[in-house]
Amino acid sequence: MTTPVGFVGLGSMGLPMAYNLLKAGYALHVWNRTPAKAEGLLVQGATWAPSPQVLATRTGLVLSMVADDDALNAVALGADGILAGLPHEGIHVDMSTVLPDTTQGLARVYRERGAYFVAAPVSGRPDHAITAQLLIYPAGPAAALVRCQPLWQTLGQGVLVVGNEPHLASLLKLVINFVVSAINETLSEAFTWAEKAGLSYAPLLEILEGFFPALIIQLYARRIAHLDFYSPGASVRLGLKDVGHMRKLADQVAAPLPLADLVYRHLQAALARGRGDLDQVALVSVVRELAGLAPGLRERSEEHNR
Ligand SMILES: NC(=O)c1ccc[n+]([C@@H]2O[C@H](COP(=O)([O-])OP(=O)(O)OC[C@H]3O[C@@H](n4cnc5c(N)ncnc54)[C@H](OP(=O)(O)O)[C@@H]3O)[C@@H](O)[C@H]2O)c1
Repeated sequence: MTTPVGFVGLGSMGLPMAYNLLKAGYALHVWNRTPAKAEGLLVQGATWAPSPQVLATRTGLVLSMVADDDALNAVALGADGILAGLPHEGIHVDMSTVLPDTTQGLARVYRERGAYFVAAPVSGRPDHAITAQLLIYPAGPAAALVRCQPLWQTLGQGVLVVGNEPHLASLLKLVINFVVSAINETLSEAFTWAEKAGLSYAPLLEILEGFFPALIIQLYARRIAHLDFYSPGASVRLGLKDVGHMRKLADQVAAPLPLADLVYRHLQAALARGRGDLDQVALVSVVRELAGLAPGLRERSEEHNR
């Protein structure tokens, strides 16, 4: 019998992840706040559920990938939410990027109700979700992690089990995202300085792509050099949420994060200029403006013709 699995949150990341589960042969049940986003999946054989509660009752194993902490609390704890429908020892695996307090709170409530909560945040972009090359950082009760093992193989290329405390996976993900944010800021400043000083992007990009082995540096360098704010990615709005979380968490333990403060200011300026839905590399548009350059925005159609 095919294993039933539920999926909540069919955004840029969730939709390709759900497709991969369907392709792998799971009996997929889906719910999304905006039902239209599920249409393609339903055509391919997924089943619509009228609420996260019904989805959880039908499957007993639900994955979620939603925007932020409020969205996660709503789909998990709402009157027709996942917890209301999960059977005894049912599992909710959340893969969103949220605060450790949020996942810790959910883990406690789920435990009290005899269900399991697993936090399994991911690194990677929509492209990596499509090709099942995400890096997954799961943490939760051991019995639940064992049952989830086959899911990681379907969705990702790498798994690092963080342990039994979901909030530590959420923390790890935000620390990793801090590194990524700092790379975004550094490369934005580097390319802007190079342009102002009359240096062609070509040798800079060639060195970063060819001799800096970190994929994340190569990815950001390419997108910043091409001012590519439009290919699928993580929005400025989501970046602000993440950096806001980092600053809050670092404040709690008196760990100064001056770089996070700088990234926050630049992302906030991008949002204020109406660029909230562009990819986070649009941070460079603000750095460019500070240097007296044009922001480098292009029409979407031009981007696609490149
Ligand atoms: N994009 C990336 O590269 C990336 C990489 C790693 C991790 N992440 C994390 O993954 C999560 C999802 O990112 P994404 O890029 O897929 O975001 P997205 O495209 O904005 O999708 C967000 C999803 O959350 C749902 N949602 C938002 N508010 C909700 C609410 N109040 N109640 C119920 N559902 C709600 C949306 O439903 P609607 O369709 O109705 O709007 C949509 O399904 C975020 O936590 C993000 O930080 C993203």
